[in-house]
Amino acid sequence: MELDQETLSLLSQLKQKYTKSGQDIKAYLEGLLHANYLNYWDYVEVDTLLTLQKPRTPIKDEVIFIIYHQITELYFRLTLHEMEQIAAQAENIDPDFFAARVKRMNSYFRNLTHSFEIMVDGMDHKQFLKYRMSLLPASGFQSAQYRMIEICATDMIHLVDKDYRNKITFDSSIYDQFEHIYWKAGATELATGKKTLTLTQFEDKYSNRLVELAKEYATKNLWVTFKHMPAEAQQHAELREQLRQFDVNVNVNWPLQHYKSAVRYLHKNPEDIAATGGTNWQKYLPPRFQKRVFYPELWSEKEIEEWGKQGIIDLLTKK
Ligand code: HEM
Repeated sequence: MELDQETLSLLSQLKQKYTKSGQDIKAYLEGLLHANYLNYWDYVEVDTLLTLQKPRTPIKDEVIFIIYHQITELYFRLTLHEMEQIAAQAENIDPDFFAARVKRMNSYFRNLTHSFEIMVDGMDHKQFLKYRMSLLPASGFQSAQYRMIEICATDMIHLVDKDYRNKITFDSSIYDQFEHIYWKAGATELATGKKTLTLTQFEDKYSNRLVELAKEYATKNLWVTFKHMPAEAQQHAELREQLRQFDVNVNVNWPLQHYKSAVRYLHKNPEDIAATGGTNWQKYLPPRFQKRVFYPELWSEKEIEEWGKQGIIDLLTKK
C-alpha cells in the first residue's frame, strides 16, 4: 500500500521527535500494532468512579448525599486548577488570561449554586434525618478543598474572624492569622464552648498542610496577583467584574443555598444541633453574619455593609 504525502510527513515529524530523545521510531510503531484502541470507560475511569459511593446505611437517599458531595469536590478541584494556573503566572500575568480563568471559576460556582437544589429538595426529609445521624461527626465543614480555595483567593487577613480583625494585623504571622481564621471561631460546641470534634479532627489532618499553602500563596494568591499588576492593568473592567462575581459566588450565593438546605432539613427538628457538628449553625452559616469578603477594595462601603442581606431576606420570605 502506498503512503500518501501527509502520512509520510507525519512519520518524518515523529521520527524527529523520537530521535531527539534517542529513541528508535520503529520500536514505537511496532508497539502501536499491538496496542488497544482507547475507549471512553478507561479514559474517564468510569468503573473506578462508580466504586466510590459507599453508603454507611441501607437508607436509599444517602447515595444522593454522597454523590452530590463528590460532584462538589470535583468542581472545587476545577476551581483550584484555575487558581494554580493564575498563581503560576503571578509575577507577570496577562489581565485577559487572568479574567478568563476567573470567569471559568465563576461558571463552576454558578453551577454549584444552581444545582444545590438537589440538596434542598432532592432528598426525603425523614430519610435524611436518619442517615445523617450515622455520619457524625463528619461534616462538609471538613472539606479541605473549600478552605484551600479561600486561601488561594485572598490574603489571610480577610479570612480572620471578624471579631479579631482589629487585633490581628496584616503583619501578624501566618500562624497567628490561621489561629483566628473564621471557621475555627465558628466551630465551638454550643453546650460547652469547646472546639467541636469535627474541628479538632480536621485540624489534626489538615492544619499543617493549610498553613503551608497559606505561606506559599502569600505571594501569589489572586488578590496579591491582582495588586502586583501595573496600575493600568488593574483597571481591566472584565477582570474587576469577574473578581467581584467570584467574591459574591463564594461568599454569598453558594453559602446562601447551602444555608437553605440546613434550614430545610435541620431547622424544625428538635434534635437539629445534634445532627450537625454541634455548632450553632443558625448563627454561623448566614453570610451576612460572617461578612467574609475576599476583595474589600473592589466594593463600596455601602455594598460591604449590605453584604448578603438582600439574599437572606429573599430566602427567609420565600416559603
Ligand atoms: C442537606 C445538605 C446539607 C446540610 C443540611 C448541611 C449542613 C451543614 C451545617 C449545619 C454546617 C455547619 C457546621 C456543622 O455544624 O457541621 C455545614 C458546614 C459546611 N458544609 Fe454543609 N450541609 C449540607 C450539604 C453540604 C454540601 C453538599 C457541601 C459540599 C461540600 C457542604 C459543605 C459545607 C462546608 C464547606 C461547610 C463549612 C461552611 C463554613 O465554614 O462557612 N455541605 N453544613
